[in-house]
Amino acid sequence: MSNHDLAIVILAAGKGTRLKSSLAKVLHQAGGRTLVEHIVRACEPLKARETVVVVGHQADQVAAVVEPLGAVTVLQQPQNGTGHAMHIAKRALGRAKFAIVLPGDAPLVRTETLKGLVATHRSGNAAATILSAVLADPSGYGRLVRKSETMVSAIIEESQLSSEQREINEINSAIYCFTLEKLWPALAQVRPNNQHREIYLTDAIAVLNAKGETVLAQVSPDPREVLGCNSRADLAEVDRIFREWKRSALMEAGVTIQLPETVLIDPEVTAGEDTVIEPGVQLLGKTKIGARCTIRAGSVLSDAVLGDDVKVEPHCVVAQSRLDDRVIIGPFARLRPNNHLKADSRIGNFVELKKSTIGEGTKAMHLSYLGDSKIGKKSNIGAGTITCNYDGFHKYPTTIGNKVFVGSDTTLVAPVRVGDGAYIAAGSTITVNVPVDGLGIARGRQVNKPGWAARKRRELAAAEKPKRKTKKSKRKKTKKRK
Ligand code: UD1
Ligand code: MG
Repeated sequence: MSNHDLAIVILAAGKGTRLKSSLAKVLHQAGGRTLVEHIVRACEPLKARETVVVVGHQADQVAAVVEPLGAVTVLQQPQNGTGHAMHIAKRALGRAKFAIVLPGDAPLVRTETLKGLVATHRSGNAAATILSAVLADPSGYGRLVRKSETMVSAIIEESQLSSEQREINEINSAIYCFTLEKLWPALAQVRPNNQHREIYLTDAIAVLNAKGETVLAQVSPDPREVLGCNSRADLAEVDRIFREWKRSALMEAGVTIQLPETVLIDPEVTAGEDTVIEPGVQLLGKTKIGARCTIRAGSVLSDAVLGDDVKVEPHCVVAQSRLDDRVIIGPFARLRPNNHLKADSRIGNFVELKKSTIGEGTKAMHLSYLGDSKIGKKSNIGAGTITCNYDGFHKYPTTIGNKVFVGSDTTLVAPVRVGDGAYIAAGSTITVNVPVDGLGIARGRQVNKPGWAARKRRELAAAEKPKRKTKKSKRKKTKKRK
């Protein structure tokens, strides 16, 4: 169905007092995105003529999130309620005949549900159609007062409920479809008759009903979809649901997730078939994982791109790095941004990488720091190798060729190059380039002194004796004092 006569209005000006936060409510995150971004994205496929976001608190920051997604913003200052916010949006709606209105704090709503809402509204020739939900615990929400199976007479806010109305468990999601030429005159009659002295959009429903207009309600098929985030507890609950949906989608795509409730995955993450994700893993940002990979317990990957058959052993941290096919890292590897680990390379425990390329089949298995380095194929980086890439002012590169053997405890003082096939002796401090097939050795020559240790022990023992006497005399003194 074409929606050229439909506009979207997202109300996102409120502060969110109940969150007790310096950040505007709609900028809080759940499920890996800000609340308002989720809503703009859910509306996108409707292809409405206009998406208008009403902004107020931290307007610039909210605009910076929604404008790149194609929405326009209008400023509501001060924020005199959801009805007032609609007044402010009016001038941006152009010649739209209908509008879907959504709060900026109910981010779980799905496109299909919104499509259903519009279809009900159109086919029912309604002035307003409310998306409702039946909740076991409706507290905190406005309630729907029905006058028949299909028709609604009013929405009553929580603070204004009679004790009888408190029993109603069909709630207002604050997502509606309105016929605008009917809404505007009704909204003009709404007065701020509540303790906050705000103009409530919800009060327009009773006005429409009194005018004899048709007000319908569509019950949300999944009541979780309409949950609003007014408190930190609401945010946690909504986040939990988003994460559950994402994990289910990946499992349906052929990914094994062990103890799924412990695994946190951002919305844009992808993973190939037969990949296994162990407990306590976090996959963040734009992480892309190939087929048959294993991401073991406690690892955190953000903006990582993994080929096929990659193995991330437990407790690795990977940021903005590429790991080609069959790479193995960890346990306890730390990859800071901008690394490229080529096929079959291995990075072991307590190895830190930054801005480094590790060639095919190259290994750095233990306790190393490799920064600003380019290492060729089939090289071996010994335990404790450190690239000294920083002199306190600038960063410098280290280049190591193919089939190089770097002995343990080597420091490479950059800028420095090690040619193909070269050897570096363990414990060297390399300050000069090492030629192809050469040996670099840079350490003090060992001197053995026969009998030295035995002599030293004797000397020390002799020096100890008088000390013992002193101790005894001290003890006597203490006794005397008693
Ligand atoms: C609102 C509904 C309530 C519904 C609930 C569902 C009203 C009066 N009440 O209550 O019936 O059950 O949502 O979640 O609408 N906003 C503005 N400008 C304002 C005031 C609010 O843009 O002047 C925005 C807020 O940023 C928020 C949205 O409107 O995104 C809803 O406001 P909120 O204060 O969360 O309303 P609720 O008390 O949750
Ligand atoms: Mg709310």
